[in-house]
Amino acid sequence: MHSFDVVIVGAGAAGLFCAGVAGQLGLNVLLVDHGEKVAEKIRISGGGRCNFTNRDLDPRAPHRHYLGENPNFCRSALSRYTPSDFVALVRRHGIPFHEKHKGQLFGDRSAEDFIRMLLDECGAGGVTHWQPCTVQEVHGVEAPGGARYELATERGPVQGRHLVIATGGLSIPKIGATDFGYRIARQFGLRIVPPRPALVPLTFASADWAPYAQLAGLSLPVAIATGEKKSRMEFHEDLLFTHRGLSGPAVLQISSYWREGEPIRIDLAPGVDVAAQLRRAKASSRKLVANELAAWLPSRLADAWAAQDPAWQRPVGEASDKALATLAERLARWSLVPDGTEGYRKAEVTAGGVDTRGLSSQTMESSQPGLHFIGEAVDVTGWLGGYNFQWAWASAWACAQGI
Ligand code: FDA
Repeated sequence: MHSFDVVIVGAGAAGLFCAGVAGQLGLNVLLVDHGEKVAEKIRISGGGRCNFTNRDLDPRAPHRHYLGENPNFCRSALSRYTPSDFVALVRRHGIPFHEKHKGQLFGDRSAEDFIRMLLDECGAGGVTHWQPCTVQEVHGVEAPGGARYELATERGPVQGRHLVIATGGLSIPKIGATDFGYRIARQFGLRIVPPRPALVPLTFASADWAPYAQLAGLSLPVAIATGEKKSRMEFHEDLLFTHRGLSGPAVLQISSYWREGEPIRIDLAPGVDVAAQLRRAKASSRKLVANELAAWLPSRLADAWAAQDPAWQRPVGEASDKALATLAERLARWSLVPDGTEGYRKAEVTAGGVDTRGLSSQTMESSQPGLHFIGEAVDVTGWLGGYNFQWAWASAWACAQGI
């Protein structure tokens, strides 16, 4: 039987980084993954360029960019391993990068740069890497000197003093996502916060969506909100129309907060006083209402919007005050109830996961000594924009230091 200080299951962002750090701390590490290719999610991330972290992350206020049943859980790890720490590593490896939007850092060339960097770090730590290799079973065993974990794998049995589960969430099953992390958590008596797709496009009943389906591909900046009062969340980002519903950064962000049956509200012309502009136009313009709207909206959307009500299908000077006021109100508060999401097939992440109440925020160790959970498998979900990778790096670092 092979024996290691640490066995890490999952060679994605969190598992690779944890393996490299632990190895370089002098621990004897085995990293196991069932996938044919290493770190597929890093490879497809950020449109192939990897949005590897975000400069605008305040670890003292994690609820600003993270959700979960206890958003403060991630404070300790995020403040001990910060975006600047990861940026320093990226610089040491000579990887060129740039800031795109709202603090988001992307590689200049390709996400492959980051995979190579993480593999080099594993190499420097003398990590043993078995991939592809399936893990069939995991058992806790009592041994002299404390509990150990025994794994039955495709390449034979192995034993570790510590077992780190870094198998991520359920999103994008076709590149190897499984519920392995949740199964192991349950096996050892840990609670799971029910997983759900997050950072995911929203869909609408086909009859409701018929008037907008022709707008697929159209994108515009909006303000989007869901929830009431204390639970209200709002984002100012781009919205994208699709054949089945809505996507784009605005919708991906709000989807993490949206709950089934609740409406989302969209201001299609944020910062524009549409009512005042239409009143002014009514006094002086001969244009059709749709053509007036095209001053602030893409013209395809302006046409589709005006087509919804005969009272809006006329020159603005001939439209009633009431019709124009209703039009302005609907544009500023377009309220619609999604019938669902595009699911794990399209979700960038999985919200929910291993309940943080069963984990140490210092070491990611569970109430089962020697068993740790890191990365997306844990009930910590970041906003779009590099926050999920930063959680993967920070939780992996805290775990490696704690072993
Ligand atoms: P990750 O999913 O990276 O790794 C899990 C590993 O476990 C995989 O290698 C898998 O093969 C392995 N595994 C699963 N089940 C197993 C089993 N039963 N046995 C053995 N191995 C098993 N985030 C961000 O911050 N910036 C970005 O630009 C993007 N972009 C992006 C694009 C797309 C299309 C997606 C789907 C996601 C993103 N993300 C992102 C999210 C980000 O990719 C994600 O949060 C991290 O990869 C999570 O890292 P983990 O290591 O926890 O899981």
